[in-house]
Amino acid sequence: MTQELTPTRTAQREWWRDAVIYQVYVRSFADSNGDGIGDLRGIRDRLPHVAALGADAVWLTPFYASPQADGGYDVADYRVVDPLFGSLDDAAELISTAHELSLRVIVDVVPNHTSDQHAWFRAALAEDTERDGGPARERYHFRPGRGIDGELPPNDWESVFGGPAWTRPPVSHHHPSKEGPSGPSDSDGDWYLHLFAPQQPDLNWNNPEVHEEFDSILRFWLGLGVDGFRIDVAHGMVKAEGLPDIGSREQAKMIGSQVLPFFDQDGVHDIHRGWRRLLDSYAGERIGVAEAWAPSPERLALYVRPDELHQAFNFQFLNCPWDATVMHAVIDASLAATASVGAPTTWVLSNHDVVRHLTRYGAGDDALGLRRARAAALLMLALPGSAYLYQGEELGLPEVTVLPDDVRQDPSFFRSNGQDGLRDGCRVPMPWSGGEPPYGFGPAGSWLPQPDTWKSLTVEAQTGDPLSTLELYRSALALRRELPGLGDGEMQWQESPEGLLTFTRPGFACTLNTTDHEAELPTPGRLLIASAAPVFSDDTVALSADSCAWWAI
Ligand code: GLC
Ligand code: CA
Repeated sequence: MTQELTPTRTAQREWWRDAVIYQVYVRSFADSNGDGIGDLRGIRDRLPHVAALGADAVWLTPFYASPQADGGYDVADYRVVDPLFGSLDDAAELISTAHELSLRVIVDVVPNHTSDQHAWFRAALAEDTERDGGPARERYHFRPGRGIDGELPPNDWESVFGGPAWTRPPVSHHHPSKEGPSGPSDSDGDWYLHLFAPQQPDLNWNNPEVHEEFDSILRFWLGLGVDGFRIDVAHGMVKAEGLPDIGSREQAKMIGSQVLPFFDQDGVHDIHRGWRRLLDSYAGERIGVAEAWAPSPERLALYVRPDELHQAFNFQFLNCPWDATVMHAVIDASLAATASVGAPTTWVLSNHDVVRHLTRYGAGDDALGLRRARAAALLMLALPGSAYLYQGEELGLPEVTVLPDDVRQDPSFFRSNGQDGLRDGCRVPMPWSGGEPPYGFGPAGSWLPQPDTWKSLTVEAQTGDPLSTLELYRSALALRRELPGLGDGEMQWQESPEGLLTFTRPGFACTLNTTDHEAELPTPGRLLIASAAPVFSDDTVALSADSCAWWAI
């Protein structure tokens, strides 16, 4: 029994429909100057690794001027490179080096909120609304509090990082008569909204000035040669009229399963349509990819309608447990939803916000986790559509679960019970070479300590070892480029025993064994690559436990 699942191949194969895009977490990729923090020059020097891996593009996390209250997702100036990471010249050089290596460059844009140090927010705090009428505050969401003296937040919304989504800043009084010299006094004024940390005030996208400013920011980076944008919190910019209460204290758990008055509001699609028109006005197929947490594959697909963004991360796949039945269902639902709007599915297993998939799948056993992670990579790269890799997954890096509290920087750690939990453990700097930390990350040290056990996981140690995870990724990506049946296109499920998944694509088959024992099958074809070697006898093959294999048929 076979099922038709995927969209018919479009006549024109746009690059992004099957691109493999490698996420660089800027702070943790490579440090050029010895301050222990990754930077743009460091990245530029290490781009040959990404090119040799076989990726089509890199996505760089934010490197803009920022007080770094949330790893740079708190932007103080969208047109300035933070000196921590380099200069605008370094960014331009990075982009041109990438292009020489045939790598496209995608940068992050953070439109839902600015830093509290952004000139706009500083002006908002300094504004005397009685005197000035409040135009600076109109760019954000300022509201009077509830309660007798406004001492309670304006509504019951919770920050994704935990705690209330509102902060009541100290009021600065300009009238010297009131408080002596102008300066902060008690908090007795309006509250402002921040869906993330208090240092990340939410912008008011009902204000045309905000639209104009972001159009101009996009143009600035497009002018510098970037090939697209990863749009941070692409589901968050529009808030429901009147900012209504939710009436529940478990909001973090509702994200991704329900439409909330602050997430996935229909109005966000108009913003994305505007940006698509802007992107299309530039040559070279510049793209937008949505970081959108939508409650269903169908609602996620709305972000990739033909006149909206090109890609949206498939977090349903990322969150999928190691279970063939669930995986089958998630793959079907994802493909069906994106097919309904003619878009590719964009697969992803890890990023800078989640526990690395090796550790998620291993549940305490890294050897098991590695077997499954290797298999999952082959599964993902065989599915129709585009795929994102997170730096270090090609090395089989596990989550670092033993970081001492005093080195942690993630605001969601300090505000606790947030959606994302502890995010520093997936941000530990890359091990490149050598036998001890910082393993070639830079001339001295690294902002988060690397485990002693990583010496066998460096790029240097794995290069040339056919059994290494790095060589598995390199070979898989090379095959993916070579084989016409992979990338964008169709797939058909084939019947297979419980705990196994088999699907075919033109000239190609993929077998996945999610069970903890060998599984015997009729040999599907000629073995191309496997995450763990299968054992052949006559007409059958025994697939190793927790493994994936690709076959030419
Ligand atoms: C996105 C980013 C995350 C950040 C948050 C707020 O989810 O991926 O790292 O904390 O947005 O900007
Ligand atoms: Ca540095």
